[in-house]
Amino acid sequence: MDLIAQLDEFEAQALAAIAAAADLAALEAVRIQFLGAKQGKLRDLQGLLGQATKDLKPLWGKRFNEVKNRVSAALDARQRELARPAVAVGGLDVTMPGVVPRLGRRHPLTQTILEFKDIMGRFGFTVADGPEIEDDYHNFEALNIPADHPARDPLDNFYLASAVVGAGLKNSGGGSEARLLRSQTSTVQIRVMEKTKPPVRIISVGRVYRPDTIDATHSCMFHQMEGLMIGPSVTMAHLKTVLRLFAHAYLGHDVHIRFRPSFFPFTEPSVEVDMSWNEPGKPWLEIGGAGMVDPNVLKAVGYDPDQVSGFAFGLGVERFCMRRHGIPDIRLFTSNDVRFLSQF
Ligand code: PHE
Repeated sequence: MDLIAQLDEFEAQALAAIAAAADLAALEAVRIQFLGAKQGKLRDLQGLLGQATKDLKPLWGKRFNEVKNRVSAALDARQRELARPAVAVGGLDVTMPGVVPRLGRRHPLTQTILEFKDIMGRFGFTVADGPEIEDDYHNFEALNIPADHPARDPLDNFYLASAVVGAGLKNSGGGSEARLLRSQTSTVQIRVMEKTKPPVRIISVGRVYRPDTIDATHSCMFHQMEGLMIGPSVTMAHLKTVLRLFAHAYLGHDVHIRFRPSFFPFTEPSVEVDMSWNEPGKPWLEIGGAGMVDPNVLKAVGYDPDQVSGFAFGLGVERFCMRRHGIPDIRLFTSNDVRFLSQF
C-alpha cells in the first residue's frame, strides 16, 4: 500500500480516536497509540518513508509532516478541552471570567445625615425620631401656633383627607382633628419634651413637606435637622456656639455664622441663621431658623420656665450638602440619576 493512502488512514483513525477520548487518561493512551516514540503507529510509517524513491520522497515527506502536525494539534486541543472544569448545567460556563458586581453606595443625603448625627453626637446630642404624619397639636398647637395663624393655611400644608363616619373622605384642612405631613421637624421637640424631664439635648433629622413651587432651590419635600437643648441655664451664646462648631465640623473653619432677628411662634427671641465663607462678593446663605424656646412651649409640655431655659434650631439638610459638594440643583437628589448618585 502506498504511504499516502496509509497516512490518510492513519489521520482519519487518529482524529476519530482523539475525538472519542472521554477523559485525559484515555487521551494519553490515544497519544501513545498513534504518536508514541517507541511503538506509535506514526513511527512505523516513518520507517516506510525511508523506502521512498527520490522523486516520491518530497511528496511523501510533505504529507507525513502535515498529518503529524494535524494530529498533534488535535491532541492538544482535545487535551485543553478535557482539562477544563465541567460546564455546569443551565449554560453557566464556570471558566468564564467573572463579572465584578457594581457596588452601591449611600444616597448623598443619607451620607450627610449620618455625618450630622456623628458631629452632633460628639457635642453630646442624642438622636430622636418622630412621625412624618403629624397631628394638629404637635405640628402647631403645642408649638404656640394659634388656631388662626397663617402657618396653618391649607395652601401652605399637606393636610390629609380623613375618614369621617357617614361622610366618606373629607379634607381635614385645619381643624384640631387635622392630620398633615409635618411641615417642620419642630414637632419632635414637643414629642421629646412630653416624655423626658430636663435636661434635654437632642437632634432629630428627617423629611418635612411643604407645597412649594419646585425649582433649583425649593422642593415640596426636604430634610431638616432639628436641635433642642434644655437645661437650668442654657443661653443664646450656647446656641451660637453649637451652630458654629457644627458648621465648622461639616464645612470647614472659614465658615461664618450670622443671626438675623426673626419671628417663630415657638421661640423668643427668634433668629434666622445665615452662613458665609471668606469669598469676596458671595452673599450670606440662609440655612435655617433658631431661637430660645418660648416659655409657652415649655409650659405646654409641663416644664417650668422659671427653672429651665433652652434653645432650638432647625437647619436645612439639603442646603449644607449642596454647599459642601457644589450641587447646583435640589432636584438632583430625587431624580434617581446614577450619573449623579455615583459621584458620592
Ligand atoms: N421650624 C422652623 C422652620 O421650619 C425652624 C426653627 C426650628 C425655628 C427651631 C426656631 C427653632 O422654619
